[in-house]
Amino acid sequence: MERTRFDRLRTLGGLVKALACIAALLVAFAATRSRAADIGYLAPPGVAANEFPAPQRPVARIVSPRRAAEERRDALNEAGQIARALELKPGMTVGDIGAGSGYHTVRLSRLVGPAGSVIAQDVTRDYLIELARRIELLKLTNVQFALGEPHDPRLPASSLDAAILVHMYHEIAQPYAFLYNLAPALKQGARVGIVDLELPTSKHGTPIALLRCELTAVGYREVAAYQLAGDTGYLAIFSPPEPAERKSPRDIVACSDPVGTR
Ligand SMILES: C[S@@+](CC[C@H](N)C(=O)[O-])C[C@H]1O[C@@H](n2cnc3c(N)ncnc32)[C@H](O)[C@@H]1O
Repeated sequence: MERTRFDRLRTLGGLVKALACIAALLVAFAATRSRAADIGYLAPPGVAANEFPAPQRPVARIVSPRRAAEERRDALNEAGQIARALELKPGMTVGDIGAGSGYHTVRLSRLVGPAGSVIAQDVTRDYLIELARRIELLKLTNVQFALGEPHDPRLPASSLDAAILVHMYHEIAQPYAFLYNLAPALKQGARVGIVDLELPTSKHGTPIALLRCELTAVGYREVAAYQLAGDTGYLAIFSPPEPAERKSPRDIVACSDPVGTR
């Protein structure tokens, strides 16, 4: 008799636990859906991709939202080195272009503080949804999310004091169109910092000579270049073309793939 009552109580306990699990899953699902609904383009489209030349070299496939373990990146002070070279300060608005899982978004959010903001931008909506979850858990309130297209970051005009593109340039399917459409989002005097490895684009790097050629083709000017600590790669800093200096998309000539970069 006693045993039967105990068994019933145990079954009831199991049922309550299962219902609690289902409720938690439903809440998580609803939260993900509402985050997904919040993530979209922040600006109207720029110039269409077919106005620009295609890159004359391989484009790497998007395979992961991160480059390396965050502990390792912190040990090399990757974010600190980039912030110093780009002179990032509290109060600025910084774009983390190709933000992925948000290694830099999180650190930039703390650096620019409550008076500043970070726009975490990516072409992969699922990565942005996951990042929005991370930012919510960390209670960071100065981060906005921006979905982009492979040829167009879709960012508001004159919104950024600086933009960083970390380990993502080689994945941009339409680099000439992308760079052209990025320029209007940069405020006067803004800088673009690109971090990549000295490897062929097919191997998830961009030889710096190729990078210089492609940015120059769109009218960007190189300001500085640094070798970052450890195996982080290089940081190349560019200023965007002034509105009056912007080339017509049809006048942009694609760079040839330097020998040995495939
Ligand atoms: C290897 S992950 C790097 C993520 C992050 N920047 C980091 O350093 O950990 C490359 C990211 O670039 C994004 N990406 C690729 N092409 C892009 C494009 N055209 N515009 C914006 N993001 C892009 C991918 O979705 C991916 O999240």
